[in-house]
Amino acid sequence: MERFQVRTQVVSGTDSLSCLGEMDCQRLLIVADPFFVAQGWTNRILEAAKPRESRVFDKVSPDPTVELAAEGTKVLQEFAPDTVVALGGGSTLDLAKAMVHFSGLEPRLVAIPTTSGSGSEVTNFAVLSHQGVKYPVVSDKLYPAVAVLEPGLLETLPKGLIADTGFDVLTHALESYVAKNAGTVTKTLSREAFAIAYAQLPLSYAGDKSVRERLHIAACMAGMAFSQAGLGLCHAMAHVLGGEFHLPHGRLCGILLPAVVECNANFCSGAYGQLARSVGFFGSADTVAVRNLKNGLIRLRKQLGMPGSLREAGIDPRQIQLRQKELTEKILADPCCESNPAEVMDYMVKRILEGVAR
Ligand SMILES: NC(=O)c1ccc[n+]([C@@H]2O[C@H](COP(=O)([O-])OP(=O)(O)OC[C@H]3O[C@@H](n4cnc5c(N)ncnc54)[C@H](O)[C@@H]3O)[C@@H](O)[C@H]2O)c1
Ligand SMILES: [Fe+2]
Repeated sequence: MERFQVRTQVVSGTDSLSCLGEMDCQRLLIVADPFFVAQGWTNRILEAAKPRESRVFDKVSPDPTVELAAEGTKVLQEFAPDTVVALGGGSTLDLAKAMVHFSGLEPRLVAIPTTSGSGSEVTNFAVLSHQGVKYPVVSDKLYPAVAVLEPGLLETLPKGLIADTGFDVLTHALESYVAKNAGTVTKTLSREAFAIAYAQLPLSYAGDKSVRERLHIAACMAGMAFSQAGLGLCHAMAHVLGGEFHLPHGRLCGILLPAVVECNANFCSGAYGQLARSVGFFGSADTVAVRNLKNGLIRLRKQLGMPGSLREAGIDPRQIQLRQKELTEKILADPCCESNPAEVMDYMVKRILEGVAR
């Protein structure tokens, strides 16, 4: 038996912000990345939603902390909105989701992503940082009611952000495809998301804005897939290293993903091979197809100007070496390990850490 459920209504395409006008918002709280407040997007939201009263909470920063979520929760409880709109990348969406969750109130949550990456607009997942550790909070209450995929917000994406968030999508797609809870529907979403992201990222990176709407939808599809199928070791490692060294989440995924594929291929080369062939990599033998997939990821990473190791990303390999035991323990405790296709053992983490450090 398989179960698949989409909890979030997804509105996409030009002028999708106008759907806010159908919601009868009386009291609207906008949780927004300050960049979009400055760009006038919060005013556009107010024009579309026409609330009686509104507030803007824009104290958002990358990788939101538990303390920031507590501050935002207080604002939310005091204002008691009927609708919360989250406008920004994964960090903003996660912050708003956590605020709603912790408030004990039940406003309608509308997620408007401005990056094509986290998929947070359709997931039951929010990542918060506390004292250098990133904790994934998982609860069905975290599913937004509506996700608005407005392509106009993608005009200002800088190259580096396209690359980082793009590798986040590839990682969500690949990890969910082979995850323990993957099913027919999630695998179809993962495969299509991977195929779109792999083909279109170089174009978007080179400045072709016409492909960004497709990439935005691919990010959302990968989010739907992983929220049901789960993720894996790459995300467990990216959470821990991101909390410790403050590198962008997708950049860490890009450094780790080929090494994780190589490690997991010892246990699920059939599934990787199937995905690799279906998106155009050659190799009738699984081992060949998986090698081509791994090399393709490394090639794309280079093409997108991304670092190939932690050292290239500015982290001294000695920091990894000295703290290997502690990092490994934290990685093994991350919930994403549970859905990895193979049981995660400390020797696997150690080998990957050694490989990506140099
Ligand atoms: N909840 C989930 O399911 C989930 C999944 C994966 C990752 N995450 C989390 O998401 C976070 C990463 O999110 P992200 O990669 O979307 O980045 P982000 O939200 O951290 O934003 C990064 C930077 O990009 C800027 N930015 C965002 N959109 C822009 C645009 N359109 N134009 C110009 N600048 C823009 C922001 O101002 C910010 O400075 C991490 O904390 C990660 O742990 C969550
Ligand atoms: Fe991610």
